[in-house]
Amino acid sequence: MDFKRSDFPDGFLFAAATSSYQIEGHSFGGAGKTHWDTFAQTPGNVVRGENGDIACDHYHRFAEDLDLAAGMGLDGYRFSTSWARVLPEGRGTVNQDGLDFYDRLVDAMLERNLKPMATLYHWELPVPLADLGGWRNPDMPNWFADFTQVIMGRIGDRIYSAAPVNEPWCVGWLSHFLGHHAPGLRDIRATAHAMHHILLAHGQAISVMRDLGMSNLGAVCNFEYAQPVDESPEAAKAAALYDGYYNQFFLSGLFKSRYPDIVMEGLEPHMPRGWDQDFKTIQAPLDWVGLNYYTRKVIAPDNSPWPSHTEVDGPLPKTQMGWEVYPDGLRHFLNMVHNEYTKGLPLLVTENGMANEDTVGQPDQPRIDYLEAHLAAAKSALADGVPLRGYTFWSLLDNYEWALGYEKRFGLVHVDFETLERTPKASYHAVSAALAQ
Ligand code: FCB
Repeated sequence: MDFKRSDFPDGFLFAAATSSYQIEGHSFGGAGKTHWDTFAQTPGNVVRGENGDIACDHYHRFAEDLDLAAGMGLDGYRFSTSWARVLPEGRGTVNQDGLDFYDRLVDAMLERNLKPMATLYHWELPVPLADLGGWRNPDMPNWFADFTQVIMGRIGDRIYSAAPVNEPWCVGWLSHFLGHHAPGLRDIRATAHAMHHILLAHGQAISVMRDLGMSNLGAVCNFEYAQPVDESPEAAKAAALYDGYYNQFFLSGLFKSRYPDIVMEGLEPHMPRGWDQDFKTIQAPLDWVGLNYYTRKVIAPDNSPWPSHTEVDGPLPKTQMGWEVYPDGLRHFLNMVHNEYTKGLPLLVTENGMANEDTVGQPDQPRIDYLEAHLAAAKSALADGVPLRGYTFWSLLDNYEWALGYEKRFGLVHVDFETLERTPKASYHAVSAALAQ
């Protein structure tokens, strides 16, 4: 690794991230079914129909996993709390075992000097709420606020930082317009409703956590650089629209009390009633913003209905996901978010990493190169004057990569999904050495 901890400012925080459904094993501990369970049960949605029933069995092995995180020299651990584990019906009866689990987990982080960085919702929607329309339902923000009260009422006193929702774009667009994630809808009206309701849920959850006396509260959004396929004005417009609904929509709601015009050209007729009155709730003050960044997409116009564009294959080297490696995008977005939206608020990279075809004993050099290049981009952003306060590796462990099942390996630690044995990869050792310097 050609980075070391001492290249970064004092107090710069290094962390690794995971999420509940991707690692815990949702068949354990009385968790309710999530819409990912039913999505995976439906042919064609998930590679080999795989689900999160066992995943990494983190539910039983979290002590070993947190030892691995601490052993790498990390300062923090970004994890998520499953709504369906805490409230199997989504509302009402609490699963005490679920609350106890997160209680033990947070204490185990603190015992290892890992700062608990919580995400309330990394996509584990309880099926009874999916039955009521999930994120299309205007009551979802209230139910989410209730869940926030229950889980943070128990662990909030020990949480270092918290964000309500991981990646609103994935909850809204990827899951309701492209249909790639649960609930697998392809419907513009469902998309508009979900994109707005998720922000309302975010705002209400922030207020609940403030009322509980919590601090260091933020929002975590994902970003993809939109590269026009050629120099034509049509390609520029197509890329600007992709950038609009992917990278600008949620920040615009959170910081500007409006949604981008270019996006509203398509979505406005489908927005929920009274949406433009909701920005006061959405804009509950934040202490930081987190950026999840992986790749760029090359965008070409086409003749399909709005948004009338498509992704085309790009020329850059690709990861196991088929995602182009484009570190400049990270520097771009850190600057963009700071200059256009957050204007001085602390920023964090809350996810960055790559999938690679790792096997035990074979060095994962492509991942080491990827991380080096993205940490260099983060350093450049710091030199540009961006108030970047931390960087988070995705992921600590190989895990359930959603619709792509267990095949795509993002971990710094290899997991054998037959034996569940953990083996640190070369990148894990390289990061440990870099963080010790
Ligand atoms: C992000 C998700 C995370 C993981 C990575 C690869 O969009 O937050 O759960 O799937 O991508």
